[in-house]
Parts: sequence; structure tokens; C-alpha cells
Amino acid sequence: MVNHFTWNPGRVIIFVYKEALTTPALAHRQAKTKAKGAITMAILVTGGAGYIGSHTCVELLEAGYDIILLDNFSNAKRSVPDHIRTLGGRDVEVCEADILDEEGLHSLFSRRSIDAVIHFAGLKAVGGCAQIPLNYYYNNVAGTISLCRVMATRGCKRMIFSSSATVYGDSNTVPFKEDYPTSATNPYAMCKLVIEHILRDIAAADSEWSVALLRYFNPIGAHPSGLIGEDPNGIPNNLAPYIAQVAAGKLPHLNVFGDDYATRDGTGIRDYLHVSDLANGHIRALVYSETNRGAQAINLGTGAGYSVLEVIRAFERACGKEIPYQVTGRRPGDIAECYADTEKAQTLLQWKARRGLDEMCADMWNFAAKQDQI
Ligand code: NAD
Ligand code: UD1
Repeated sequence: MVNHFTWNPGRVIIFVYKEALTTPALAHRQAKTKAKGAITMAILVTGGAGYIGSHTCVELLEAGYDIILLDNFSNAKRSVPDHIRTLGGRDVEVCEADILDEEGLHSLFSRRSIDAVIHFAGLKAVGGCAQIPLNYYYNNVAGTISLCRVMATRGCKRMIFSSSATVYGDSNTVPFKEDYPTSATNPYAMCKLVIEHILRDIAAADSEWSVALLRYFNPIGAHPSGLIGEDPNGIPNNLAPYIAQVAAGKLPHLNVFGDDYATRDGTGIRDYLHVSDLANGHIRALVYSETNRGAQAINLGTGAGYSVLEVIRAFERACGKEIPYQVTGRRPGDIAECYADTEKAQTLLQWKARRGLDEMCADMWNFAAKQDQI
């Protein structure tokens, strides 16, 4: 039942259910069942063709939102939007553009009424970012400033930002809590920190802004259809895609970076979460941002850590093959353990990751095995 409607300043009339103001879970369910005559919310997804963005677009479509997918396709395939359409069962407007292009963003915002932005676009390869710091600061920091300037001018003041557990640096103890001190050991991490500060300042200066700084832990896995997933260019830097390429016979073996950490088997421990759970966290953050203003940093992780050897075993179960590996030296910049305190996400967003490590590995393998066929 529609109880009343509110005016969303400068944008569109949206119907608001009484329950929508009370629990994100209900609001989420109600967003799924669009009321007759209600105008659907339109969400701009920057970097929407990328790994996490594409999974989030599918979740958004399933939840009843309209999306505008903006990407410059510097790190995504042009076939991804079609896969999103297939999985989401609806059309998607694709805007091939760069977040650095303020004029282009203005013309998009003048053409479309946009209620909120989920901002994934950015360069993300940690290995190598120290050699090209200007590219990182320009694309990630200047790109975010350009986007925010346009949003502020156009009166769209809700942003969900992709931050990272990397902002906890290398001197905190696990589990990482949102109020721990932050620091950066490379330009990628510094970009995340600087952007978090900029967004907090924007929200402090103008009380109409609502900003969620979502600190992702280690997203892995793929959509169970195998249509979308992580498909890095070149040799992967991260553990899970590297293992997938070893399993697929594209790489001979995995190098395990150190087995002398103070962990249960000596290898590094991380908080791996299924990318579809992570995508769902964005829907919850979006619902939260409808009724809450200000800036909040929120961890998105499972709260549990797995070692490198445990991930290898899980992947072996998923693909039914042995993963050859050899132990090498520690990777510079690595920490022994990294996992999330998840209480804030549960309390504020009523979000909790559901899928376990075996499901993450099975979905990754399903995607990897399909890549040669698509
Ligand atoms: P991704 O590279 O797959 O997706 C990013 C997308 O942004 C790509 O499709 C790329 O083409 C696009 N893009 C880059 N610069 C752009 C620009 N200037 N204008 C328009 N589009 C641009 O990365 P992902 O893994 O999906 O990560 C998404 C976000 O989450 C990034 O900001 C990343 O830093 C952050 N993050 C990722 C992880 C992870 O492990 N994948 C962990 C923590 C945080
Ligand atoms: C890396 C980045 C981090 C970023 C995160 C998600 C570095 C130093 N850190 O973190 O900033 O936020 O990815 O994008 O790059 N491992 C191996 N062999 C491999 C690859 C990894 O043993 O070939 C180990 C690592 O030592 C680590 C674990 O696997 O213990 C996970 O590594 P990875 O997937 O790269 O993620 P992070 O180390 O968390």
C-alpha cells in the first residue's frame, strides 16, 4: 500500500511506503515490486561494466531500479552490458564516457534525472601504481572531483563510493573496525584515502549529501550464470584470478607469497567475499542513503579469514584438479591478516554476506571455464 509521496528536491516524484522509512530490508523488497504509477529511481553506475559494477548492475535491475551504466571501457569488455541486460531481464542505457569529462557528465545529467550515483570507476591495479602515480591520482581523484562537482551542481547528492580495506594500512590488528586509524602504503591506497576525505568534507559542508564509503575486503567469485566475472588483462596480481588461470592451464603454477607469517598455516589470511554478496551490499547502502545524510565508512566483508592454502584447497574442490604451487618470498607491502569487523554493516545496512568460500570458488571456476566459449 502506498501511504504518501514525497518530493525529492529537483528530481522526480517518488512514492514512499511507510515501511520504507523503517527497515532497509522492507524498502529493498518494495523497490522490487514497483507501485503502479510510481517513478522508478534512476541510478548512475560509473565503472558499471567492470567486475563489481556489472554484478551490482544486475542486482539493481533485479531490485527494480533503472540504471545508466557509464564506463570508458578502459578495463571492461564491450559485451558486458549485453550480459547485464540478459541477466537483469531489462534494458540498460549505456553511456560510453569518462568521469574526467565534466561537460559530458553535465550533458548526461541534463538529459536524465538521476537520483543517486554508485561510483566504481577507477584504476585498481595495485602492482605498478607506484610507477604511474599521476595516472592514478588524475583518473581516480580528479575523476571523482569532476563527478562530484557535476552532482553538486545538478542537485544529485547521494553517492555510494567503492573504497577498500587497503585504507587500514599495515599497523592495525584484526578484525578491522571502521574507526581504526587509516594510512596508505601505495598511490592506489592513497587515492582511496584522499577520496574518502574529500567525500567526508563535501558531506560536512552540505548537509544534503549522503555518502557511503564502502570498504570492500577481497571480492572473488562470479555470477552463477558464468556470463560475468573477473577477467583481468595479462597476468593477474590477485590470488583468486591467478589460481583460476592455473586451474585453466594458462599458467603453470601459483607462487605462494610467504609461509612464515604468524597465521595458522604460515600463509596470508584475507576476508574473501562473493562478488554477488558485495553487489547486494550496494543495494542496502542505497536504501540506507535514502533516509540518512552525512558520510559513513562501512566495511563489506564476511568477518572470516581464509589462508592462501585454504583457498587453494577450496579451488581444488571446485575444479576437481590439483593446483600446483610453490612457496616464494613475501610480497612487499603484504600484511599477515586482514578481515572485517562486520557489525556496522549489519546494524546500519542490515547486510550480511551469505555465500561461503566453496560457492565463491565454484562460481569462479564456472566463469573461467566458460570464457573460452563466450
Ligand atoms: P574494474 O577495473 O573491473 O572496474 C572499474 C571500471 O571502471 C572498469 O570497467 C573501467 O573501464 C572503468 N573506468 C576506469 N576509469 C574510468 C574513467 N575515468 N571513466 C569511466 N570509467 C572508468 O574494477 P573492480 O574490481 O570492479 O573495482 C571497482 C571499484 O572497486 C574500483 O574503484 C576499485 O578500486 C574498488 N575496489 C576493488 C576491489 C577488488 O578487489 N576488485 C577491492 C576494493 C576496492
Ligand atoms: C591486494 C592489494 C590491496 C588491494 C587488494 C584488492 C597488494 C600488496 N595489495 O591485496 O591493496 O586492496 O588486493 O584488490 O597488492 N597471494 C599469493 N600469490 C599470488 C597472489 C596473492 O600467495 O599470486 C597471496 C597474498 O600474499 C595474500 C593473499 O594471497 O596473502 C591475497 O592476495 P591478493 O588477492 O593480492 O589480495 P590482497 O593481498 O588482500
